Formats: sequence, C-alpha cells, structure tokens
Amino acid sequence: MSKSTGRENKTQVQWSSPSNIALVKYWGKHGQQLPRNASVSFTLSHAKTTTRITMEDMEGVAYPAVDFTFEGRQQPLFAQRTVKFINGLTDVYFPFLKGKKLTIDTQNTFPHSSGIASSASGMSALSLCLCDLEMQCNGTTIYDAAFYRKASLIARLGSGSAARSVFPGMSVWGYHKDISGSSDDCGISVADDVAPVFKNFHDDILIISDKTKSVSSTAGHQLMDNNPFAQVRYEQAEKNLTQLMIALKTGDLEILGKITEDEALTLHALMMCSNPSYILMEPASLEVINKIRKFRQKTGIPVYFTLDAGPNVHVLYPHEYVAEVKKFIREDLSQHCVNNHIVEDQVGDGPQKLV
Ligand code: PMV
Repeated sequence: MSKSTGRENKTQVQWSSPSNIALVKYWGKHGQQLPRNASVSFTLSHAKTTTRITMEDMEGVAYPAVDFTFEGRQQPLFAQRTVKFINGLTDVYFPFLKGKKLTIDTQNTFPHSSGIASSASGMSALSLCLCDLEMQCNGTTIYDAAFYRKASLIARLGSGSAARSVFPGMSVWGYHKDISGSSDDCGISVADDVAPVFKNFHDDILIISDKTKSVSSTAGHQLMDNNPFAQVRYEQAEKNLTQLMIALKTGDLEILGKITEDEALTLHALMMCSNPSYILMEPASLEVINKIRKFRQKTGIPVYFTLDAGPNVHVLYPHEYVAEVKKFIREDLSQHCVNNHIVEDQVGDGPQKLV
C-alpha cells in the first residue's frame, strides 16, 4: 500500500532492493543497454538500497522536478545521474511524471564508497518506486510478474546488472537459447531452478580497496566493442551459462565453482587485453584468490571466489561450512582488507515494498 501523506495530491512509496553478484558475467553491451551475452546472479540479502519517493503535483513543469537526497544530504553526483535517468524515461515510459514534483531520499545499508557497487541496488530500488507510482496513478496495486518485469526493464536502462536485482534468490538477464522466458529486455527469476544448497549460499565480500575505480563499468563495457577477444568471449559466456544452469539445478558445487572462478578471471583478463589495457585487481586480490584455492585444496571445503569489476573478492560457500570458512576469513584473509572490512552477505529474498 502506498501512503497518502495528508494532502490529497501526495503519494508516497518506498522500496528496498538488494545488490547482486553475477556468476556468469555481463560484460559488453549495445543499443539501449542491451547485453552482448546472458548472465546469471545471486540476489544478495544485506547489501541493499532503500529509496522513498514522495510525488505531488506541480504546475508548469514538463519534466518532473526532482529533489534528491542521499542519506538525508545533498549528493550532486547521484542527484545528476538520477535526474538524467528519470528525464530519459518520462516521454516513453512514464508520461504520468509530467507536472509532478518528486522528493527522493535514498540510503544504502553498506557505507558509501565501501567499494561495493551500489548501482544495481540503487537503480532497482528507484525503478520499483517509479513503477509503483505509475500503478498508483492508474488506480491499481497488483504486484504481479508483469510489474516486476517492467521494474527490471526500467532498472536495466539505469544499470544493466540492476535488471537482475528485482528478483529473489537467483536471476538471469539476457536471451539464452536454453533458458525459457529469458530476454535481453529484462531479467527473469530462476529461483525455482536451483538446488537447496544455493538458497542460502554465502557471499562474504572482502573489501580490498574502497577507492573509486580507475576505469568505470560504463567505460569498460565500451572497450569491449574493440576487444579482439569479444566474440569468443560472448560464445564462451553462452556455453558457461548452459553448464552453470545445470550445476545450479543438480547442486554440483564443483562445476559451479569452476565456472564461477573462470568467469571472474575472464572478466579481468578482458580488461587487461582491452585497448587501452587496464587492471582493476590489486596485489591483495591475487593473494586472497591464491589463499582461497589453497584452502580449498587442503580442506576439501567447497569455497570459491568471484570478482566484480573491481579489486574486491567475493567469497562464496554453502551454509554448512559457515564456521570453518568464517574462521579462515577472520584468521587469514581479513588482514588483506581495508581496515579488516568484510561485508557478510548471503542469498536473499529480493526487493521489499516498505510503504
Ligand atoms: O551494471 P553495469 O553496467 O555496472 O555492469 C556491471 C557488470 C559486472 O558487474 C562487472 C558483471 C555483472 O554481470 O554484474
């Protein structure tokens, strides 16, 4: 239910939406934020964004007037990106926003500039709010599959990976011949296609650096256009996704782990052979990766790593090994993190409507 704020023309909605971590990566795009290959991710639980929008009538504005705050404060960079995004949507997707004032406040559960990308959670929370407001204007409140599909499509336009954040558990974004209902336009839920072991899988994020990346994801995607290995990569991603979906279904940790680690290293290899080449991993990322592989060999515990487009290492493992792996992280890996900073996360239930 949205909240009437007292004055008749005011509508308020609030959603929280989590971040996600891709196992098969999306890297390379075309057209209006369309992926060059399909990807799959775990939806996380703790790392999330909560966004509240209050909408009211305002005379004489063709595009919505946006008053944006981040955690109660002005944040010009985020504000600019949000305004540009909303204005870009108004004519085609949300004409109801014309003549409105939007007061937006947004907050993250993880510290700003902690090295965790907030675009997936941020853009998905914002998109869910906008789709909700649209429904309120049409006098309906049916949060069905069509609602989430549209929210995913809108989120995609803000940040490709955000398309996957609007679904609980696990989702796929991008057309794939073996995945029924998959589409480049928006994500789909594949939560029902995974073995129980993955329903509460852990992802502890080791913050190796909290500095702004030297090359943004937007620039990284663009560099794929001239990467000599691009075509081979897109074909490889398609094959990896086929195999990974089978491993997810059967609960095959070894195959899942192998593909996930190969995907992470391939993502960074693609950066290293872009033109110009660049490196986002830090020496500590490599040390941690090597330690994880050695620990796995020594103990037989199925713990794996993945990386986003940055130096931080995501440590993935089943819930039944939580004690052993957390001890390993505490005693051996945390020394490589900025201020021993680790964000402990887990597969989660997806977005939540709060107001
Ligand atoms: O959503 P974007 O445009 O920031 O791209 C992010 C891509 C990766 O995070 C590196 C991989 C992925 O599939 O999430």
